[in-house]
Amino acid sequence: MTNEPESQNAPLDRSSFVVRHSSASAPGKIILCGEHAVVYNRPAIALPLHHVRAHAAVEPAKTADGFSFSAPDFGRTWLLDAKPDDPLSLFTVEVLRALGVKDMPALHVTITSAIPIASGMGSGAAVATALVRALANRFGATLTNEQISALVYENERRLHGMPSGIDNTVIAFERPVWFEREQTLSPPSSSVQFIPIASPFTLLIADTGVRSATKLPIGDLRRRWQAESADYEALFDQVGEIAHAVRAALASGEIVALGSLLDRNHMLLQQLGVSSPELDQLVQVAKDAGALGAKLSGAGWGGVMLALVTAQIQQRVADALQSAGATQVLATVVEAVLEQQ
Ligand code: PMV
Repeated sequence: MTNEPESQNAPLDRSSFVVRHSSASAPGKIILCGEHAVVYNRPAIALPLHHVRAHAAVEPAKTADGFSFSAPDFGRTWLLDAKPDDPLSLFTVEVLRALGVKDMPALHVTITSAIPIASGMGSGAAVATALVRALANRFGATLTNEQISALVYENERRLHGMPSGIDNTVIAFERPVWFEREQTLSPPSSSVQFIPIASPFTLLIADTGVRSATKLPIGDLRRRWQAESADYEALFDQVGEIAHAVRAALASGEIVALGSLLDRNHMLLQQLGVSSPELDQLVQVAKDAGALGAKLSGAGWGGVMLALVTAQIQQRVADALQSAGATQVLATVVEAVLEQQ
């Protein structure tokens, strides 16, 4: 949706735009392999979760009300002016600046999200992406996926310290991505490739219910890496090799091989010290119930794990995960992607 200036002859004054309702959404994401090592410049693969989304709706407000937010799923309502240091307030100001909006408009933003927070499913990046898209629509601006990804990356950086950029990338492009960070801090688009997937496969995503801030395991791992860098570099190399093998398995449709690679990735994540008893238990339960492979996904110490399943064992594994205490079990079918798409 676009917003037309009140008069075609009027100068391009953003404040004269017709105020219309505008909304947008963005998907959650799951990291298939390579988390943590990706922060240390090894490759990782991430997939969008099209059916688990965050939404942002922008509506006109009375001038006296200024710019306000409500986020009912997070139990929050606030005025931008009253909470200028709130991460979403700060981000909104940056986005409006990037859109060339000079004066703070009177708007109300409603944010809703089905993505569990602090669980490794990209909630923060999805909310930010939906917000950028809704504000861009509201002001009739066209942003490329690269531009949206770069804006959201800055927000991720403020929240998480030194993120690799994989979350904002997979969420902005909404396609399976092969992500390799370069030495620079911002995520250059050249590090992103869209990978072919020869045959569809199903993942179950189970939530431990344990909320863990992304930056905690990342910071802990960094301290250990600083103390014993050679050991950790060797582990990161192994994770990187797995990512290459996963890419090859996806390209050739070797689902059984993919399962073993996910198992190996989980063992390396355990050695990196980012798993947890709850994650290990769900991984073991999934394997015992017949999953082809299982691993934690995301930053770890809580959040979600994923299990690769066939149609025959999907229900059995889902039931086993639920009985073992998973607070939520989602199934997602990763569709085939042709090389030239
Ligand atoms: O936001 P999460 O929980 O999916 O974790 C991000 C993945 C890490 O590799 C641990 C960090 C990063 O920035 O890539």
